[in-house]
This record gives sequence, C-alpha cells and structure tokens, in this order.
Amino acid sequence: EAVDLGPYQHYMQKEIFEQPRAIGDTLANITQFGPELFGAKPADWNAFDQILILACGTSYYSACVAKYWLEEIAGIPTQVEIASEYRYRKTVSLPNTLVIVVSQSGETADTLAALRHAKSLGHLFTLAICNVASSAMVRETDWHFLTKAGTEIGVASTKAFTTQLLALYILTLSIAKRAGKLDPDQEKKLLRELRHLPKALHSVLALEPQIIAWSEAFAKCENALFLGRGMHYPIALEGALKLKEISYIHAEAYPAGELKHGPLALVTDKMPVVTIAPKDELLEKLKSNMQEVKARGGMLYVFADHDTDIVNTDGIHVIRLPEHYGNLSPILHVVPLQLLAYHTACARGTDVDKPRNLAKSVTVE
Ligand code: G6P
Repeated sequence: EAVDLGPYQHYMQKEIFEQPRAIGDTLANITQFGPELFGAKPADWNAFDQILILACGTSYYSACVAKYWLEEIAGIPTQVEIASEYRYRKTVSLPNTLVIVVSQSGETADTLAALRHAKSLGHLFTLAICNVASSAMVRETDWHFLTKAGTEIGVASTKAFTTQLLALYILTLSIAKRAGKLDPDQEKKLLRELRHLPKALHSVLALEPQIIAWSEAFAKCENALFLGRGMHYPIALEGALKLKEISYIHAEAYPAGELKHGPLALVTDKMPVVTIAPKDELLEKLKSNMQEVKARGGMLYVFADHDTDIVNTDGIHVIRLPEHYGNLSPILHVVPLQLLAYHTACARGTDVDKPRNLAKSVTVE
C-alpha cells in the first residue's frame, strides 16, 4: 500500500475523487464502438443472440444497470445472476449466449467458478470486464475489456464500479451498432457525450460540502432506505451497500414502486429515505412514491437533476446534480451516494478503508 494519499484522508476518498481520471483513461483511444474494443472478430461477434452476466457484490450491481441498457438500447435479451447462485443452480443453457463476468479483481472465487461452470455447459462465447490484466478471468475468457481504474485499495469499490458501468455502456453501444441501431452521426454524438463524462464527474464531486452536511444527520441513524426506479434501482442498491459496508448502518434499497409492498411499514420520522430522482420518464411515478413517504413522516433526501421541480420543504431535502445526464445518469448519480456513505462512516469513526469482517477480494468461497 505504497500509494500516496495526497490531500485525502482515506484511500476510499482518494479513489472517489480519481473517478474523472479513471473514466478518462478507460475511454482513451476509443474512437468508435465495435467488437475490436473487446478483442473479438466481427464474425464471432455476430453469432450470439443473448447475454448472461455473472458477478458478485458491487460488480453485480453494475451488471444490473447494464441489463437496462442492453435491453433498451441494444435490444438484446439479458440476464444477470449472482455468481454464487448460478454456479450451483441447474440452468437451461443456450450455447449462443455471450457469458460475461464482471469483476474488479478478476479473481473472486464464485465468479471464476461460475465462469468455469458456464463454459462446462457448452457456452460458446465468454467475455471478462476486469480491472486487472493478469487475472484468471481475463486468462480464461475469449474476449476482454480492461477498465483503467488503477489499483483500488479501499475495500468498498468506487472507481472500479463507475469504470465497469462505462465498459458495459460501451458494450451496449457496440452491440447496438451490430444491430444497425447506430448511424455514424449518432455514434459521433454518443462519443462526444462520453468524452464529457470526466468534466461532468468533477462537477458532481464539487457537491461534497452539501453531502457532508447531510452525513451528520445520517451518522445518528441506525437504518436507512434507498429508493430508485428503472436503471437507478441498482444505483439505489449500490448506495445502500456502500452505506452498510463502511458505516455499519442497516440500509436497504427498494424499487420505489414496491414501497407499498413492505418497506412503507418501516417509515417513521427516524428513517432517512434516500431517493435517486433524475429527470427521466419515471420521475412523476417516483414523486408519488415520495409523497407516500412524506405522508408517514419519513425524511426524504433526494438527489435530483439540475432542472428538477422538486424543492426543499419540510421533510424533503434536495441536492441537485449540475446537469441532466440521460442514459449516462447512473454513472453520475452513484457518486454522491459514495460520498454520503464515506462521510457518514467518517462521522461515525469507522475504519473506512478496512471495514470489519470484509475483504477486498474474496478468493475463497
Ligand atoms: C468484495 C469487495 C467488493 C467487490 C466484490 C466483488 O466483496 O469488498 O468491493 O465488489 O468483492 O469483487 P470483484 O473483484 O469480483 O469485483
């Protein structure tokens, strides 16, 4: 661990602030979408017609976001499965499936075993999205895409997660292109949007002082609920995971539409409810879910986009992200959740970089 902390208090904070660099590096040299970015030949690339993604932990949540992108943008049927479940389950395997493993380390025991299991079932195409070039998963797959997060030391994954999302978005566009869903003008526009990401991330990171103010209230709580809809539901899951991992606050995430099916019973004036509320086609639905929380005295902490009409009132606290991000929104909206978990943990005085009972890489079952 010879990496210099610079002006930061912990590796996790340093790694959160490294995200503009990590995303920029992962994007470097990409001038078009397509199979070559994954080391694949066009003929093989055209041969799969569905996707199965296997992963654990935070990497699993990046795969859950990708399912929304792959089905909505590329129109390819996609399943996502927790590796430790898949490896022991009798599945119906279809050889023409692209099996993807997503892993920061490339060594997680269950993900590696799930990959080997998928291969043993006769799957013909395998791809690793990984942060470590020399890892077992990169060696054991046909194709790979390397994220350029650099060494991640904090046990709670941050920059590896956002670079995985970027890789999976690039994969989505590469498959959309294969399906004839991307003309050259659209491709250029999408590349321009991607190149703007580091700058957009810097502006989101500048919200840190507002998030520190919120973290003081969170530090006093023992429970928190996270809500999101659509591709931001997995972002809610990731926000809850970050908070529980490092602050030891019990946190749960729900797709907001499920509120009435259970979690609403938990809402009191002691329950902070973090809501990921970008301006998308689900926002009006989400706002009615927020009203349900407010009516029960819950304290809403809302991350919205700059042009939102959600305002700070009694019981509703709002932080506006500086832009409106479209399909890239999960990559931006997870950052304030990382900062919220980080500063809440600092306020509670936990060992942020080495939370109790957890390991950076789980290489035994
Ligand atoms: C551990 C780490 C997490 C990570 C997960 C999967 O639980 O603490 O941060 O998301 O393993 O690791 P991988 O290396 O496969 O992404």
